[in-house]
Amino acid sequence: MVNLVAIQQPLIILLMKLAGVQTHIVEIEPGTNMNFWVPNETVRKPNTKTKEVTTTSPKPEKPVVVLIHGFAAEGIATWQFQIGSLSKQYSVYVPDLLFFGGSFSNNSDRSPRFQAECLVKGLRKLGIEKCVVVGFSYGGMVAFKMAELYPEMVRAMVISGSILAMTDSISETTLNELGFSSSSELLLPDSVKGLKALLSVATHRNLWFPDRLHKDYLEVMFNNRKERGELLEGLVVSNKDNFIPHFPQRIHLLWGENDQIFKMELAQNMKWQLGDNTTVEGISKAGHLVHIERPCVYTQCLKKFLASLPADETQKPN
Ligand SMILES: *[C@@H]1O[C@H](CO)[C@@H](O)[C@H](O)[C@H]1NC(C)=O
Ligand SMILES: *[C@@H]1O[C@H](CO)[C@@H](O)[C@H](O)[C@H]1NC(C)=O
Ligand SMILES: *[C@@H]1O[C@H](CO)[C@@H](O)[C@H](O)[C@H]1NC(C)=O
Repeated sequence: MVNLVAIQQPLIILLMKLAGVQTHIVEIEPGTNMNFWVPNETVRKPNTKTKEVTTTSPKPEKPVVVLIHGFAAEGIATWQFQIGSLSKQYSVYVPDLLFFGGSFSNNSDRSPRFQAECLVKGLRKLGIEKCVVVGFSYGGMVAFKMAELYPEMVRAMVISGSILAMTDSISETTLNELGFSSSSELLLPDSVKGLKALLSVATHRNLWFPDRLHKDYLEVMFNNRKERGELLEGLVVSNKDNFIPHFPQRIHLLWGENDQIFKMELAQNMKWQLGDNTTVEGISKAGHLVHIERPCVYTQCLKKFLASLPADETQKPN
């Protein structure tokens, strides 16, 4: 459980390499760099003198799956339990969104749209033309933006614990019910007590960690606090600006039935708004962090959906 927080960076890199992915920085534009975990087979070391890795194989060999993390952790910590079992059949890419993990930008734009645009530029630089996007929480909102802006790239989506856009009313209702005064109080804890409150809201069963682990987690996961606060502000759109785009893709809403942050009803409601190509599936005994609380069930459901999609024409060997 969140075990990657407690161990050292080189060990994470080794474990992830065994699971099938390696870290690779992509320059999106001058001043904006995004870290991606990319499939083993697309990475080559140019020579032994420079340690810098480079992507030489321009195209991934298998159908591409992109896993987008939520607000409280970067890519690897979020998807640690899914990567290994997906990477045999799929080329798995795990980005760190801007101001998380190894990604940063000097651009002042804090909208989910900017995250989506940078992510797509990065994926294109990695040779990806089409992909299935899996988005959790904040990452789900970025995924929806990506699918709306780049329908030619996004073949299908799996969304967990997320909504199309954070409207004033959803954000107020949710926070009131949970007893927090602001989204940053909930999502950007600055103390062990605050982090415990977040974990307790985000999970179905209360998980126990030693205080030391909480402290390490706060240090590792909550850097760039100022920018992340601004991202949260950039998230809330006023109710009247909220419209439902038409998505041509298949969308699978894969939910923790006990999600207290974005309830199962929101998913049902969204299915109704999104139409016939959207399906909902609930996973019992799981809260918001469903992919971490019930990793095996979550991965199974994910694989079943991926297998049900029509083959990606662009992926045929050339
Ligand atoms: C990735 O590379 C590591 C080390 O080179 C290897 O042990 C591992 O099996 C590879 N994983 C996949 C999924 O190819
Ligand atoms: C961001 O950094 C790049 C490269 O250092 C620079 O060219 C650019 O002007 C900077 N942009 C802003 C908005 O500071
Ligand atoms: C559902 O998906 C199919 C295939 O992508 C598409 O042709 C159709 O227009 C979609 N239907 C709706 C209601 O969006």
